[in-house]
Amino acid sequence: MVLAPDSITATGQAPELAAQRAMVDADFCATDSLIRKALHSDVVLISQLGEYIINGGGKRLRPLLVLLAARACEVADQRHVQLAAIIEFIHTATLLHDDVVDASGLRRGRETANAIWGNEASVLVGDFLYSRAFQMMVALDDMRVMRILADATNLIAEGEVMQLLNAHDPETTEARYLQVIRRKTATLFQAGAHLAAIIAGQPETQAAALGRYGLHLGSAFQLIDDALDYSASAAEMGKNAGDDLAEGKPTLPLIYAMQHGTQAERERICAAIESGERTDIVGILAILRRTSALEYTLSRAQQERERAIAALELLPESRYKTALVELADFSVERRA
Ligand code: IPE
Ligand code: IPE
Ligand code: MG
Ligand code: MG
Repeated sequence: MVLAPDSITATGQAPELAAQRAMVDADFCATDSLIRKALHSDVVLISQLGEYIINGGGKRLRPLLVLLAARACEVADQRHVQLAAIIEFIHTATLLHDDVVDASGLRRGRETANAIWGNEASVLVGDFLYSRAFQMMVALDDMRVMRILADATNLIAEGEVMQLLNAHDPETTEARYLQVIRRKTATLFQAGAHLAAIIAGQPETQAAALGRYGLHLGSAFQLIDDALDYSASAAEMGKNAGDDLAEGKPTLPLIYAMQHGTQAERERICAAIESGERTDIVGILAILRRTSALEYTLSRAQQERERAIAALELLPESRYKTALVELADFSVERRA
């Protein structure tokens, strides 16, 4: 087995979110310890690969959202810490699987687990993390938590399969694309915010509103992710740029550019989606610029951000609520 060279450093937690993290500092540290404890297995490869991806850092945006949402709903006990760890475990499991499916080589500023240990180990350890999340969920002993998370993970899997079906298909519409990102990404944000309100004892109308906040924030987050894939550097993102084109993924920048480009431009994008090759990236970037496709994607993300903030309307004012608004801002303004 090849270990990652020490020279490759992990990406830190987003510095832009330091103030929001500080507001729930004790909860955040408790979540981190729980994540590390729950990684434990006497099967060495599991703890090794698990610690590798967890130590890579990541923004921990989902647990932060869960903790802030629970505090904004005046939570009275510590179950939100378990919930935050469960959501991050599910997220990490999907990343392990996603990097295998997308054949990605860089994640959190380091080589992906699949690049080091191979696809089989990544898929299986991803399954371990998934099932560990379910063990932690059962320990909460609350049927509402189990139902929402069972439904959410099922939708995420559907989203990933729908994306697989869209791959290499230049006919993919904006509506189909939006359905995919809602399921594969936004659903987990939705479940996290919805459940934070539920365990804090909020009535269903309030909890569902928090869920809508998560759903729209998550959609904005993925729209920006898909724009950054064409506009940010690997150093900024901690993952390789241009991966989407290399996978033949018809994301919104390409869909919009095909709708608004000339016949020749459309054909060029079609060919890149069908072949799934990065070779024409310079030409594709020029078309994205000419058609303002990244600006359009950004404006759609802004719209989702506004919907997320609007969903918080009934939540009583508090510094935690303000932080939730700032998380929505971050999802759109982020470069990593
Ligand atoms: C990556 O999520 C997967 C997407 C939904 C785009 P993050 O960007 O939150 O990944 P980490 O946890 O910070 O590495
Ligand atoms: C997000 O999709 C993956 C999941 C929600 C599981 P991407 O494939 O765009 O994520 P990155 O870009 O690899 O992080
Ligand atoms: Mg990917
Ligand atoms: Mg991406």
